[in-house]
Amino acid sequence: MVEAPPHPLASLCRPCRAGRVRQRLTPTWRGRVRRPVADTRRTGDVPVYPLGATGASHGRLHAGRPALIATTRWGAASPTRAVVYTGGGRNRPVGSPLADLIQREIAERGPITFARFMELALYHPQHGYYMTSVRAGRAGDFLTAPEAHPIFGWVIARQVAECWDLLDRPEPFHLVEYGPGSGTLALAILGYLAQNEPHLLERLRYCPIEPSAPARAELLRRLGAAGWAHLVTDGPPAAASGLVLANEVVDALPVHRVRQEGGELRELFVGWDGQRFVAVPGPLSTPELADWLARLGVQLVEGQETEVCLAMLGWLDEVARRLERGYLLVLDYGAPAPERADPTRFPRGTIRTYAAHARGSDPLADPGERDITAHVDFTMLGLAAAERGLVPLALTTQAEFLAQAGLGELLVALQAEPGMTAAQYLAARAAALHLLDPGGMGAFRVALFGKAIDPAALPSGFRQRLLTGVPLPE
Ligand SMILES: C[S@@+](CC[C@H](N)C(=O)[O-])C[C@H]1O[C@@H](n2cnc3c(N)ncnc32)[C@H](O)[C@@H]1O
Repeated sequence: MVEAPPHPLASLCRPCRAGRVRQRLTPTWRGRVRRPVADTRRTGDVPVYPLGATGASHGRLHAGRPALIATTRWGAASPTRAVVYTGGGRNRPVGSPLADLIQREIAERGPITFARFMELALYHPQHGYYMTSVRAGRAGDFLTAPEAHPIFGWVIARQVAECWDLLDRPEPFHLVEYGPGSGTLALAILGYLAQNEPHLLERLRYCPIEPSAPARAELLRRLGAAGWAHLVTDGPPAAASGLVLANEVVDALPVHRVRQEGGELRELFVGWDGQRFVAVPGPLSTPELADWLARLGVQLVEGQETEVCLAMLGWLDEVARRLERGYLLVLDYGAPAPERADPTRFPRGTIRTYAAHARGSDPLADPGERDITAHVDFTMLGLAAAERGLVPLALTTQAEFLAQAGLGELLVALQAEPGMTAAQYLAARAAALHLLDPGGMGAFRVALFGKAIDPAALPSGFRQRLLTGVPLPE
């Protein structure tokens, strides 16, 4: 049976190509999404959100801010303002093979960095959170944008097609996806391309790079069931021409934790107090942490905590090595450095945990049982990418990106699709509102980088346009 039927837009979307976005949307909506709660009904596999609902209350990245933030070029970071917040989290006594293993490592080597703890908690080959099961999705612990509705993937598919055009239609065209999980985004993208860009699909090689064996197996099963197994390249290409995609992946890379204490920067290690894992302040494990904060212009106030994602550097090394010519598209929650390190908004940093569609804030509790994430520092991403030959081209919000890339146009086309039920249409419309909500997923950031390309030629998601009649600031 074909698991991912062609999406219902079929021929209707064919004329909607690069740079032809006309529909404008008024964005409203929210963060990494938990399962919708009250008044939620389902239509088959598609959630029907109550119209006008903006979801649960976590992850309000931009409460009270203007709905849209302009597409910007990468700018210098500026220092932050001062508010003190202190406090410590407690977690309950733990007992699991992974907790035992971490305790042993601490007993042998002393307190470990939080990055090491996070690496073990998420990616230990036998017991890591991502390594034991498929995590994103309605049956999992959290919903990401592609899991909310395939319309997200259809918009990305249009950007894929535009990038192919901008690169003069290379053959093969590599779509390299980091952290695809069980392949929900890939299914939506390939479904759209099958209907609207068959020439591209014939030339496309899909290269999933996913450390989780259960997720990888499920991805291959689903793509096989959809008839697209032949598109999948086993292993990453040595030299890709095309698009590298990372949706909510960089936030899952291990981070070091630091705190400003007694006028100096200290690192928060992870120790064991005999009953539970605890944060243990100590001198920095590497000067890189202070160096990066200085480069980013981040000066923490007394008691403030934040994170530095050094693992991002190794990841970018790998991407830069593999991408010969083309684009890197990163979608994630996070912000440029000054915003991310604002002591009034993130006095204790940006680490969050997710389990069973509930958000938590104690990252030391139940290692292996919950997702651990930290907001992406998009200033650091831009600086580090540039050093590796990945030229920062644009940075915008997800709301802006989706609207400019044609989300509204897809919705309008969906209305007229034969066989479209009211419930299906309303589900797509409600999901679109969630994706655009400036208090949630709409505030996620989307960054584009290029290598060996014309930097002036941007796909439509990054072209400055007027939205809801309001001129974007310079
Ligand atoms: C929050 S999930 C997002 C899954 C999917 N992209 C989505 O949007 O639904 C993060 C994914 O990134 C994967 N991941 C973590 N580190 C990675 C790395 N270095 N390379 C590739 N994938 C990675 C995890 O295994 C997990 O599947």
